[in-house]
Amino acid sequence: MAIDIFWRIPTHGEPSSLRNKLHHRGDWSQQEGDHIVHRGLAGGGSDGFNSLDYIAEVARAAEISGFHGGLIPSFPMTDEPWAISSFLARETSTFRFMIAFQPGFLNPVTAARMTASLQRASNGRALFNIITGGGGPAQLWWGDVAPHDDRYARTTEFLDVLRGLWKGGSYSHHGKFYQLENAALPAQLLGQEFPEIYFSGSSDAALASASQHADFYLSWLEPFDQLKEKFDKVKEKTDKLGRKVKCAVRVDIVARATEEEAWREVRRGFENLSDADKERYARFAQQTGDSVGANRQRNNTPKTLDNYRDFILHPNIWSGFSLLRGGQTNGIVGSYEQVAERLDDLVKLGADAFILASTPHLEEAYRVGEEVLPLVQGHGARNSVLRAVG
Ligand SMILES: Cc1cc2nc3c(=O)[nH]c(=O)nc-3n(C[C@H](O)[C@H](O)[C@H](O)COP(=O)(O)O)c2cc1C
Repeated sequence: MAIDIFWRIPTHGEPSSLRNKLHHRGDWSQQEGDHIVHRGLAGGGSDGFNSLDYIAEVARAAEISGFHGGLIPSFPMTDEPWAISSFLARETSTFRFMIAFQPGFLNPVTAARMTASLQRASNGRALFNIITGGGGPAQLWWGDVAPHDDRYARTTEFLDVLRGLWKGGSYSHHGKFYQLENAALPAQLLGQEFPEIYFSGSSDAALASASQHADFYLSWLEPFDQLKEKFDKVKEKTDKLGRKVKCAVRVDIVARATEEEAWREVRRGFENLSDADKERYARFAQQTGDSVGANRQRNNTPKTLDNYRDFILHPNIWSGFSLLRGGQTNGIVGSYEQVAERLDDLVKLGADAFILASTPHLEEAYRVGEEVLPLVQGHGARNSVLRAVG
């Protein structure tokens, strides 16, 4: 069975490593702003290199290292994923861009045209991570006041409309959220491949929507028994509709030659936590919102920060990742072999694809591509064509 493995594109900038957060050329949060000062230049002036140049490097590194493509997240602190994808389409050849977006924020006819144009320009390399938002202040930031289950109903209807338009011809739709009369895509944009749909969300409403539209049901890493339960549930719901769904896991990793080295990296990151990091974690632990998935993540994390070992959930599974770089809590830590074994375990419990990430994304794309991907069952065969020359 072929396993699709994606990388994550850090569209919010990133520090130099997990263990020490020195600024480097991929970081866009420096005082100088987006343009990164090259200390080597005479006078220390800007050489024009910016965070987009860095993102393009990461995408090319993922492409050359055997990843299928990259997830382009969408949060208040990230670049805008559609714009970034158009840019990356010209910077890469085979790299596929997984655009994260909340359907409720776009008109579906506009979204269909944007997608069809991008598919035409990129030879069909666009795919989606359909997200529906976590409620609370984050949702209001976007100006969205719809309650949790309505958001998923809107997502379902949006995807119905997108598929309807994609078929071509004149399309009308009279639903709860969208009313269209004789809408149509321009003829020259028809006939493109419909983007593969990865679908995120852990609530019952999410699973119901995913069962209708997802090609891949996508989850953050959770304790393996909980994850299997979720995968089984979404597969059962989808079967009942006469469809098939695959499953995927989005997971951060720290992979090193030995397990000791990997844990040393984590420990040093933990010991170097700043007061600001600790405050961010405390806020995360108390955050409100209606995201079932985010609450499932929070339930598995200790409330105090005494020892990095308190965050070990299972062998090689560490629940402190949000401490080191924000975002989801659980990830895999271990030797190259152990990380590949844990990914294989996930395949056995139902995963067909992964979105991996590790900081810094550029160097780690090469490392993981070279050391871990060839060990993952179902992915290694693809890489065996690579041979050393000279
Ligand atoms: C793998 C994965 C990736 C996500 N990426 C994003 C993202 O890029 N931007 C965002 O606002 N939310 C993201 N989310 C969160 C979802 O928008 C949503 O808040 C969450 O899944 C809540 O739904 P639930 O209540 O059904 O769990 C992601 C969720 C998952 C599982």
